[in-house]
Amino acid sequence: MKITVIGAGHVGATTAHILANKELANEIVLVDIVEGIPQGKALDMYEATPVERTDSRIIGTNGYDETKDSDLVIITAGLPRKPGMSRDDLLAKNTEIVKSVTEQVVSQSPNSILIVVSNPLDVMTYVAYKVSGFEKNRVMGMAGVLDSARFRTFISMELNVSVEDVSAFVLGGHGDSMVPLPRYSTVAGIPLPDLMDKETIDRLVQRTRDGGIEIVNYLKTGSAYYAPASSTVEMAEAIIKDKNRILPCAVWLEGEYGLKNVMVGVPVKLGKNGIEEIIQIELNPDEQKALKTSAGGVEVLIEKVNL
Ligand code: LAC
Repeated sequence: MKITVIGAGHVGATTAHILANKELANEIVLVDIVEGIPQGKALDMYEATPVERTDSRIIGTNGYDETKDSDLVIITAGLPRKPGMSRDDLLAKNTEIVKSVTEQVVSQSPNSILIVVSNPLDVMTYVAYKVSGFEKNRVMGMAGVLDSARFRTFISMELNVSVEDVSAFVLGGHGDSMVPLPRYSTVAGIPLPDLMDKETIDRLVQRTRDGGIEIVNYLKTGSAYYAPASSTVEMAEAIIKDKNRILPCAVWLEGEYGLKNVMVGVPVKLGKNGIEEIIQIELNPDEQKALKTSAGGVEVLIEKVNL
């Protein structure tokens, strides 16, 4: 198993580090345009492997030759958000970056599976899908796992229960219009509306929507990376181990949920072929409307990038 991580910033490097610690690949290649950074971070991680007792070789590079024949490629390259910026403010610059990265990835690893993490997430996943020419099961975006993890954290904090017993579902685009689904979110199988009043749920939903900017406002110089990296690795692990996990991911829809030709977050089954299946759950009219609005926001951006 060979995994390439593009972008050796906080998200990319943390992702590579977790992949190595979990020994999810024999070979991990960390790529960045900044000279010395991927080499230095990769060697530092490599030197941790005897202590961690994992046999993942980690190589850092500024080029793509070393990425040849990767099974999985995780794209984190791009500028992060600063305070006052929406994810969409990154559109033009990150489109250029993700386009060029995807072209080079595909030339070396034509059979790989792509997980996109760059923002604005859904549109960057679209850019990678379009530019790669890959089948839709091999290109997906990481957002729903992160947004669900944030929702789970806030539910666990509120009820003072183990995060292990909390599961949550967040659909839609990775933006202010994301769609957390309280009635499909449970604590030990008990639906959230049976455990909290509406006001509390609404507060936690709002905090989930603002989960990214809450971190940006603290850090000032960038955005979150620990939870994004863990979430990305959860998707990678599902694919590498062919687990058939059901996780919310940004995927290309062709009529599912009444949405067509848009990249947006819905539950999927993740296994060795990438997206093995798109899971369609019953939404009530309000939820359906919220998902449609969220997808509409992504469609506008997809038109703007004009690929
Ligand atoms: C977040 C940014 C990275 O949600 O989109 O933290």
